[in-house]
Parts: sequence; C-alpha cells; structure tokens
Amino acid sequence: MKLLTALGILSICAGFTLAFPEDLQQRVVDYLNRYRESFAAHLPVANMNEMIYNASLERRISSCSIARYEGKDNRVMYMREIEFKNKPNFENNGAEEIMIDHDDSELFFYRQLVNPLYSGVGCTNLKKPCMHKIRKVSEDSKMEDAEDKAIAMCFFGGDENLKPLEGLKRGEPANQCPNGKSKTSRYMCKP
Ligand SMILES: *[C@@H]1O[C@H](CO)[C@@H](O)[C@H](O)[C@H]1NC(C)=O
Repeated sequence: MKLLTALGILSICAGFTLAFPEDLQQRVVDYLNRYRESFAAHLPVANMNEMIYNASLERRISSCSIARYEGKDNRVMYMREIEFKNKPNFENNGAEEIMIDHDDSELFFYRQLVNPLYSGVGCTNLKKPCMHKIRKVSEDSKMEDAEDKAIAMCFFGGDENLKPLEGLKRGEPANQCPNGKSKTSRYMCKP
C-alpha cells in the first residue's frame, strides 16, 4: 500500500514536466559558460566556476509551485522561450553594471547567470506554462511588478543559499580556484 501511494505521488509530480533533450542540455550549458567566461574576463573574476549539466538538479523543480518556493534563493532561471541567441557583451563597463544591485528583472537575470559559485544546472520543459513575478520598466519609466510566462525552467546547483554574486572574488581570472583551473577555459575554475 505504501509503495502504491509513493508511486501515485511520483506520477503526479512527474506530470508537470517533460524531459529536457540532450542537445538542449548542451546548449544551455554552453550558453551559460559563454556568459560566465566573458564576465570573468571583463570584471575580472578570480573564482568563476565552469558549469556542467547535472541531471539530478532537474528533480529540484518538479512543478511551478516548487520552483516558486525554491526560487526564493534565486536558483531558478525561468525561460520564456528556449532560444540562446544573445551574445555576452560585458565591454564598456557592462560587467561593473551587473555588480550593482538592480531592481530590474533583465539585469537580475544576468546577475543570476554569472554567480561564480554555481557549478551545475538542470532544466525541465513544462507541460503547462509557469507564471512567475518579474520587475520591469513601465511606460512612465518606473519599476513595476508584472507577471511573465515560462515554458522551461533551470535550477542552479552549487553552494547552498547564495545571493546573486555572493562569494565573488575579484582578481586575475582563474587565479583562485579551489579545485584547479577549468580544462576548457583559461578564465574559469573546475567546478
Ligand atoms: C549534482 O547535484 C547534486 C545536488 O546538488 C550534488 O549533490 C552533486 O554533487 C552534483 N554532481 C556533480 C557531478 O556536480
């Protein structure tokens, strides 16, 4: 009986999300690492971890309400679409701009992507879009609350309970790597 109940609960949870295809897993990791590498090179950051795809993190966001709860510590990245078109552009003081604590969701999004101590990411596609709160610039140029629709979500793993950019060490890229330097980027650390 207990087993049946457990199976029932499992299938209810599984009902909200769809597996994230392998080619997209690679694309999301590449996208994140491009931003992280560029940010680390421009600020510069001495302890930027390279990200890897970690399928066990997919289970941390099995539904929209769990994502909202877990997202309180900024670990959930909501995706309006699965497109990885933007190129990192941290030139002309762009990296310093990210360091300032903005109220704006667009910049918050980047603050989240470049948290140096995150080391893994796991994503899921959603069967039903997940509505979530954002801050955006209104028509009269003030910040206001709004809602946005996500069709996929990713969850960041690494040290627990981090605020965006917490633990960042400025300095020569990959100069303060507890586990050694990344094999693929001279600006990042091995996770
Ligand atoms: C994947 O994430 C889990 C949960 O946070 C963690 O315990 C595990 O060490 C991670 N695996 C790798 C290879 O980083």
